[in-house]
Amino acid sequence: MTFPHAGYTVTTNTASYPGYVSWGILDDLGPRMREVGLSGTAYIIADRPVFSLYGRKALASLKAAGFAVDHHFLQPGEATKSLATAEQAYAWLAARRAERGHTIVALGGGVAGDLAGFVAATYLRGIPFVQVPTTLLAMVDASIGGKVAVNLPAGKNLVGAFYQPRLVLADVQTLTTLPPREVAAGWAEVVKHALIMDRDLFDFMERHAAALTALDRALATEAIKRSAAIKARVVSQDERETGGVRTLLNYGHTVGHALEAALEYAGLLHGEAVSIGMMAAGHISWRLGMLRPEELARQRAILEAFRLPVHAPPGVDSATVRQAMSLDKKVEGKRIRWVLLDGIGRAVSRTDVPDAVVDEALRSVGA
Ligand SMILES: NC(=O)c1ccc[n+]([C@@H]2O[C@H](COP(=O)([O-])OP(=O)(O)OC[C@H]3O[C@@H](n4cnc5c(N)ncnc54)[C@H](O)[C@@H]3O)[C@@H](O)[C@H]2O)c1
Repeated sequence: MTFPHAGYTVTTNTASYPGYVSWGILDDLGPRMREVGLSGTAYIIADRPVFSLYGRKALASLKAAGFAVDHHFLQPGEATKSLATAEQAYAWLAARRAERGHTIVALGGGVAGDLAGFVAATYLRGIPFVQVPTTLLAMVDASIGGKVAVNLPAGKNLVGAFYQPRLVLADVQTLTTLPPREVAAGWAEVVKHALIMDRDLFDFMERHAAALTALDRALATEAIKRSAAIKARVVSQDERETGGVRTLLNYGHTVGHALEAALEYAGLLHGEAVSIGMMAAGHISWRLGMLRPEELARQRAILEAFRLPVHAPPGVDSATVRQAMSLDKKVEGKRIRWVLLDGIGRAVSRTDVPDAVVDEALRSVGA
């Protein structure tokens, strides 16, 4: 299917859906949902702070397009991605006699999107859902590709599904109320997409770093749209991370995850951890002769321009980081599958990185 006005289209074996990325398009939510054939009741699931900022606008658009509406609140924060919260949402939907033809609308960041998506994937064995991301990370990453999940005490995202939304609608204007640190962490994902697959986007971001950081309307929309389109292209080629292409999105994640785990998921936002992880992976890429020193310097400069950390926070225990890395799920046999850069704009994955080079890279970022 084609959607002529969409910023991107995701087409997998199971679904085809449009993603809209523009400034001030929350008002279009109802009509866009109609266009993809949705009707009946729309259940907005959002955390309270996001709902108080954008809920009224979303509800008004849905009502004007003829939807019956209702809304359910989540607590903000990662702890919301739990089976207990999902169960509360199921009970809420059951009390309203939600039907298979009705739609869940996830309004918020990746937490609301992953939780509401998980509920949509499982309630009545699956009811339609729509992603309305309001964080930069969710706009360019979490809302695209249908990975939905909750956490268990044993680990993050351990229970979930691949369940594609029917539509993604990203109103870039909503980022103006997002705390600047969250915005910066989102830019880390955009820089990552540029580094692994789009040299032009990297040049564009380098040129306009200050304006992008200030969320210039036209430039920020352009960068976000291009970044989201990269994610859409990758998940269209490799929905379930079996073909290897989706793996490339993990640039910076091997060390990033290890840092997050070593800090017990407190202290660093995910994008910040990925930023440091990209510096470690960049170092390895340089040492293996794939990235020129000036390219590594450009990577560092762009991360700093977006106010992202390039060094682990003081007090990170290096033994814990190494331990966490050896538990990383990308370990194959005993070798870690590294995503590295073969020049800016081109990522490759390799398992033949010598331990001494890894160690040096970790030390280069203070881990
Ligand atoms: N499904 C995927 O493919 C995928 C990919 C990456 C990350 N994730 C998941 O995403 C989650 C992180 O998502 P996140 O970074 O969006 O964090 P988040 O959803 O926790 O949102 C961050 C904070 O910003 C607030 N907020 C959201 N939008 C706002 C706005 N426009 N204005 C003001 N405040 C706003 C929220 O209330 C929250 O407190 C993690 O659970 C991660 O596992 C999923």
